[in-house]
Amino acid sequence: MMGLGVAKHRNRCFSMRNTFTRAVVLTIAMLAVGGVVLRSDVDVQSAIAKTAASAREAMSLQKPLGHPESAGWGGPVDHPPKQEEQDEKNVTAEDSKPTPSSSSRVMTCDYDMDRLRRWQQQFGLQETFEYTKRYIQASRQDIPRRSITRLQQDFLVDAVKVVDVNKEYEAETCPEPLLAPVTKSPYPATANGSDFMFGVSTTYQRFTDPRTSPINEWSYWLTDGKGNSNGGKLVLLLVDAQPEELEDAYNKLSSVGIDVDVYRSSSSLIMAVRYLALAPTLYNHPERPRRKWLVVCDDDTFFPSFHALADRFAQYDHERPMYIGTFSEDVNNIERHGPQAFGGAGVFLSRPMAKIIAENFENCSSEQKIQESNTGWGPQGDIMLRNCIYQNSEVKLTLLNDLWQLDIMGDPSGFYESGIKPLSLHHYRGGIWHLARPFQYTKVAHACGEDCTFQRFQTADGFIISNGYSVAYYPRGIDFDLNQFERTFRAAPEDKGWNLDFRMGPQRPSLHNTGRKIAWELLEATVNPDGSVSQVYVGKHNDSRWTNPDGTPMNNRDGIIEIVWLPEA
Ligand SMILES: *[C@@H]1O[C@H](CO)[C@@H](O)[C@H](O)[C@H]1NC(C)=O
Ligand SMILES: *[C@@H]1O[C@H](CO)[C@@H](O)[C@H](O)[C@H]1NC(C)=O
Ligand SMILES: *[C@@H]1O[C@H](CO)[C@@H](O)[C@H](O)[C@H]1NC(C)=O
Ligand SMILES: *[C@@H]1O[C@H](CO)[C@@H](O)[C@H](O)[C@H]1NC(C)=O
Repeated sequence: MMGLGVAKHRNRCFSMRNTFTRAVVLTIAMLAVGGVVLRSDVDVQSAIAKTAASAREAMSLQKPLGHPESAGWGGPVDHPPKQEEQDEKNVTAEDSKPTPSSSSRVMTCDYDMDRLRRWQQQFGLQETFEYTKRYIQASRQDIPRRSITRLQQDFLVDAVKVVDVNKEYEAETCPEPLLAPVTKSPYPATANGSDFMFGVSTTYQRFTDPRTSPINEWSYWLTDGKGNSNGGKLVLLLVDAQPEELEDAYNKLSSVGIDVDVYRSSSSLIMAVRYLALAPTLYNHPERPRRKWLVVCDDDTFFPSFHALADRFAQYDHERPMYIGTFSEDVNNIERHGPQAFGGAGVFLSRPMAKIIAENFENCSSEQKIQESNTGWGPQGDIMLRNCIYQNSEVKLTLLNDLWQLDIMGDPSGFYESGIKPLSLHHYRGGIWHLARPFQYTKVAHACGEDCTFQRFQTADGFIISNGYSVAYYPRGIDFDLNQFERTFRAAPEDKGWNLDFRMGPQRPSLHNTGRKIAWELLEATVNPDGSVSQVYVGKHNDSRWTNPDGTPMNNRDGIIEIVWLPEA
């Protein structure tokens, strides 16, 4: 994935398909003959980019259509009233003025029509759509992580540009990058997972289906992103898998750098028991002596901030029997199933805890225990685990509420746009739950550090970038409490309206269909060879959420906002 940009670039420049590419190649050849030493990849690329820009100018291509009336997106074209400074919490960052770092990275604001056409196809956009590109320079400072940081700069510098995929456009000068103060948080590549061993039970079919395959997600929190293990161990159980399937799973995971053992489990055990069996399986693993925490999780559990996770667990006493996890956010689920760790958020067992479960596994998985775990919704592995612990020890659950089971449905924006720094995420593969792309969202951490994922930046002209998730514009101003979750999502039936309040606090009303909010959501992100990260945020003209109260769309065009995060030089 990371190599894609380069490969395509090469193809585009050296295929000699048209006069333009030939001109570029010729110019580069002349530069080379002229004794210009092209030192590194980055320099080659910037040379190509610059040459391309002048070649395009020489061909007198057109300018993209400025489209100022749509820049109001259903609201006043003027900037929204600036919000009064509030002092509550850390929502109002002081207007920090980071010093621009001398970045050697080249900013390119050309119109790469191959990419724009690919996006238009891939995301099903209109042939004519809005395209805004903005660079953000991360400025790492000795500051705490803020849920929202106010910037003095505007997000939009010019009128919104409209491009037609059937045309070509001349390159433009990039505006000054936005300067974003961020913490000096560590990068995902340096995480150390060696205290942990994770156990997951799934099927080969779910493992390989592109809609459910967890390989990318696991590579984020189990490797350095460059094909090397971070020390974390994965024990994968595939139900009824054939030997060649086990081997295939092993090869796929090893090839991206994940330290994994793959085993077959049998469907003769019911799912709840297979789940409970993960604890003794991890405990009996030969690598147990080197691990402090044995973690039972689902194939859609994601750890977005591994440094923070490891730091948090370093504070617990791994030599005591400990059972650490979190409840469902939905009070109905606690009423139905009881107050145990809900497994999708991750259940962390110290070795002495896993030992107790392993020693009592026979009894804990008896027919009677299976029946006791059935609350009318079928036997529940989470309940079997709790009962096994509670009936065989004095240990009680330690709540860690930065883990999230995410029993929410519908539009999850209100969660991901809350400025939160979650330690786990779950239920993001759609179906009856919500759809999200944490592997894409967290790529930006490679450029600006783990803390900056989901961190919010509010620009002077009324945009809020929820980094990695969305860019939202509020044409009537930001006159609501940014400390509260926006209730864009709902609880599973029966939704009483307050199911989630004990965990999330009462949520502020959704801005769907009010004409007060329109957002572009991240569908794709790329870590570039120079260390910058490109994010593609997409908005659809007919997204049913972004309408005025009378039902008319707030914008009549699809749009892409491309943000490129520049790491500090
Ligand atoms: C705001 O940040 C300051 C500085 O780090 C911190 O001491 C304070 O506790 C924070 N306040 C709140 C309400 O989070
Ligand atoms: C990772 O953590 C382990 C155990 O805490 C430690 O022994 C090891 O040196 C660490 N590795 C690195 C590369 O820091
Ligand atoms: C299982 O439970 C029964 C009854 O509580 C007890 O007599 C027996 O020793 C237990 N077996 C094991 C292996 O712990
Ligand atoms: C939005 O419009 C596109 C065509 O531009 C169409 O394919 C899609 O189904 C529409 N979506 C909705 C929700 O109406």
